[in-house]
Amino acid sequence: MVFRSIINLFRRKKGKREIKKETDFKRVEKEEKLIKKPIEEEIKEVKEEIKTKINEKIKTKEKKKIARVIALTNQKGGVGKSTTAINMSACLAEMGENIVLIDVDPQANTTSGLGVNKYKVDKSIYDAIIGKANIKELVLNTRVEGLSLIPSNIHLAGAEIELVNMMMREHRLRKVIEPIRNNYDFIIIDCPPALGILTINALVAADEVIVPIQCEYYALEGLGQLIKTIELVKNNLNKNLEISGFVMTMYDSRTKLASQVVEEVKRYFGEKVYKTIIPRNVRVSEAPSYGLPVIFYDPNCKGSLAYKNFTKEVINHGKRRIGEGT
Ligand SMILES: Nc1ncnc2c1ncn2[C@@H]1O[C@H](COP(=O)(O)OP(=O)(O)OP(=O)(O)O)[C@@H](O)[C@H]1O
Ligand SMILES: [Mg+2]
Repeated sequence: MVFRSIINLFRRKKGKREIKKETDFKRVEKEEKLIKKPIEEEIKEVKEEIKTKINEKIKTKEKKKIARVIALTNQKGGVGKSTTAINMSACLAEMGENIVLIDVDPQANTTSGLGVNKYKVDKSIYDAIIGKANIKELVLNTRVEGLSLIPSNIHLAGAEIELVNMMMREHRLRKVIEPIRNNYDFIIIDCPPALGILTINALVAADEVIVPIQCEYYALEGLGQLIKTIELVKNNLNKNLEISGFVMTMYDSRTKLASQVVEEVKRYFGEKVYKTIIPRNVRVSEAPSYGLPVIFYDPNCKGSLAYKNFTKEVINHGKRRIGEGT
């Protein structure tokens, strides 16, 4: 009997201990839940905060877009500067970029190549350079969505002389485009076939230079002088200037000479030569008379495909450049 009551006493004590253990466990569980909940909530809040901050940053970056300014230069005439300027700009616009193409050549081939009658241009880039017009009033829409044009006309020929006595004459174009730099993804400048004051203005305004080289016998002639001029501008007037690359144009696969010229240019400039070679293509030469870039005149011709590939290289080069800076 006594033995049984001792066992019962033990059982009761054990029961109590187990109940205590159980309540302790529940308490700890409750406390853990209480601790866990705020931590999870806190993590969620921090995540939200980071997300909104990133979105804000992206938005301000989008708002603060600064155009890549690219000049197409070669003092040699007829090498494909205007053709490349028009078609590269059109390809960029087709890819969703916002472009303004500035015609800085008094011949105004880029202006007429985009369907604008150069004889009827009222105000051209000339008026902005000599301080008689605001750049924003010169911008014309083209038939290509996303591609605007600042035209040229013959008055620009006079600028070479008028600029001689002007203050900061090499910086005029750079100053002129300053108010629109944030409005576009790309500002493309087509230069005249000379190393005069207009080309110098383009080089001072630009961040990058693309040099079209025609696949013909005297392709390399004059390039030394051009590179020297670019270096001079870089060292004295625009330290950010860089030669982005050399693009081979009007390649005729039927001639041995064309491939020899490409090889020679590659030997000189190596990696700076764009992989895409623009073929000689009759559709490319016909397109300007219709006031259209070739990619809209004949989207699938060899010239169009080449200009699309070339433009992709130009875009990727820019990404590499941004990557270098970060
Ligand atoms: N890939 C091509 N295939 C066929 N013809 C072309 C090609 N590229 C340019 N052309 C033609 O060659 C001529 C010269 O081209 P473009 O006007 O582009 O050269 P440019 O360097 O701008 O000349 P300039 O120095 O006179 O300004 C034009 O008649 C143009 O239509
Ligand atoms: Mg030209």
